[in-house]
Amino acid sequence: MYDRVTARAYTNIALIKYWGKENPVLNLPTTTSLSMTLDAFYTETSVSFDQGILADSLVLDGSEVDNRRVHTFLQMLRENIADFPHVLIESHNQVPTAAGLASSASSFAALTVAMAGLLELTAMPEELSRLARCGSGSASRSIYGNFAIWHKGEDDFSSYAESFLDEDIGLTMLVAHVSEETKKISSTDGMQRAQASAGYARWVAESEKALEEIKPAIIAQDIEKIGLIAEENALSMHALNRTAEPPFDYFTDTTRALVDFAADCYHKGFLAFATLDAGPNVKIITSRKEEEAVLARFKAAFPDIPFDICHAGPRAEVRDAH
Ligand code: DP6
Repeated sequence: MYDRVTARAYTNIALIKYWGKENPVLNLPTTTSLSMTLDAFYTETSVSFDQGILADSLVLDGSEVDNRRVHTFLQMLRENIADFPHVLIESHNQVPTAAGLASSASSFAALTVAMAGLLELTAMPEELSRLARCGSGSASRSIYGNFAIWHKGEDDFSSYAESFLDEDIGLTMLVAHVSEETKKISSTDGMQRAQASAGYARWVAESEKALEEIKPAIIAQDIEKIGLIAEENALSMHALNRTAEPPFDYFTDTTRALVDFAADCYHKGFLAFATLDAGPNVKIITSRKEEEAVLARFKAAFPDIPFDICHAGPRAEVRDAH
């Protein structure tokens, strides 16, 4: 039995987004989503049983925080797996430029893998993915390296991610840090509001079609096709938010300018496509071959914005157990 287990999980960016829940308690999604894990941003989490504390405790980057989701997650593990003593969780987010990209995906994937180690579970990746999903939907995909697909499934047992392609196909994501402020509308709230939009059913149907189109493009390593499909999927998700009840928008003026600049670069013959999650930061999809040229163009046009270069990242795993 181990005293302390440390696991690391990398964040992921969806090329086909998860943006709506069939079941908000279990995080069962309305659509299947597909992502690439990134090598630059990760969460490292250590867990240990602590008889000396009165409740489960989370220390994030050195400060104790009270996180309802983490408490609910540990409760879920106790109900699903076995009862266990209070846990001390020590978590560290590795984000190269300032803060702000620390994601619930890498956090819950790292916590799941660390807890599985501490509880000595012999779980398959699909089972870890299913558990991570209960913490945060997108965490189900961060169990895997490279490309992961989260099957929407029908219930708690059939909704989990699998590896779609465990290969680096030379896709680069340039992350433009527009703002590091905590988002005003969380993804959980944002997707709930978007689901109330009149155009939601159409978005779901389009997303299913886009998923079937992007799969062969990934296998064929066709970055242009991947970029076109992913950009359309992300922009339509954000368009949906603007027609939600009440409407909302994660875009700032700089976000818009970056998205437009990516389109301009593409029309000038570069591989540059934008994707965005529940916030104003823009991720530009390009190829490893063109990343320097594309980055140089963006830096010249947006001299005040910090950029990070990301490639495909590895799967979540235990780094230390003693
Ligand atoms: C826009 O996984 O953060 O990044 O399940 O409520 O924790 P919860 O939501 P979360 O949503 C991520 C939404 C997204 C798209 C995606 O990653 O697929």
